[in-house]
Amino acid sequence: DSHLTSRHPKMEEEHMPRRELESIHGIPLYWCFVEKWGQVEAFQARPDDLLISTYPKSGTTWISEIVDMIYNDGDVEKCKRDAIFNRVPFMEMSTPNFINGTEQLDKMPSPRLVKTHVPVQLLPISFWEKDCKMIYVARNAKDVAVSYYYFYQMAKLHPDPGPWNEFLEKFMAGNVAYGSWYDHVKGWWEKAKDYRILFLYYEDMKEDPKREVQKVIQFLGKELKEEVVNKILHHTSFQEMKKNPSVNYETMPSWALDHSISPFMRKGISGDWKNHFTVAQNERFNRHYEEQMKGLALRFRMEI
Ligand code: A3P
Repeated sequence: DSHLTSRHPKMEEEHMPRRELESIHGIPLYWCFVEKWGQVEAFQARPDDLLISTYPKSGTTWISEIVDMIYNDGDVEKCKRDAIFNRVPFMEMSTPNFINGTEQLDKMPSPRLVKTHVPVQLLPISFWEKDCKMIYVARNAKDVAVSYYYFYQMAKLHPDPGPWNEFLEKFMAGNVAYGSWYDHVKGWWEKAKDYRILFLYYEDMKEDPKREVQKVIQFLGKELKEEVVNKILHHTSFQEMKKNPSVNYETMPSWALDHSISPFMRKGISGDWKNHFTVAQNERFNRHYEEQMKGLALRFRMEI
């Protein structure tokens, strides 16, 4: 049963101390992000910033590379100029002596691409005041939970996720970094009614990447030739991104990300949850899901 084997044996012999999550305005988060939260709250957005917002493991890196490719008219070499975490800085990221997202962004020339995972109520106010364009990518909760479980193991910033069953309970309760998936998608969905937010689904991007990339191009007010669009699609396919060191996070130090536990570019498919959820877990999850999502027009497809 793969649900019993998905915890990597290396997790049992790790010596790097992992720390429990802290809390910022009621949202569980990494201690080193919380420590610098004042910088996040004071962050000054610029009117031509593009914000890329997601709950973790929803396709952030994928949409980031797509957008950077669009910004650079499909020039692959330009997009390889630097690692994705420098081209699209992670706003609230802060680790001692390593990366500080707000400082990175303050130094960056416009137009900037900004990545965040914050729930809507924690977004620095200046993004709303400046009426920045935003792209939100949502992915179905079951695949997010599975992807997050592997990411918890390989990314040392996280506390020990425990066995899969325990992690799934924590995920459902919102007791994971960035809090409840349900609150996150609902919060951003509501905001998309009043602000310039393009709301995309990971499953739609898998189903018809061309259609979804066209939506992004239109939203950004760009016009690109068919051959450029095709180049973008090829370059941002999972197979290409998995082997591209400027997006696959392999240039990150292994004390931060251990790809031998699980690669960052893991599977890149919809429906991997079926290889992990037991029948009982699935039934319990579905009941909880219905309670959380009832009455909403948000449509997630978990069966593809
Ligand atoms: P899996 O763990 O299910 O494979 P994020 O960038 O938000 O952290 O999301 C990571 C997830 O997106 C991982 O999911 C990763 O494999 C997947 N992903 C990254 N690039 C992708 C691409 N080009 N196409 C499809 N999925 C991609």
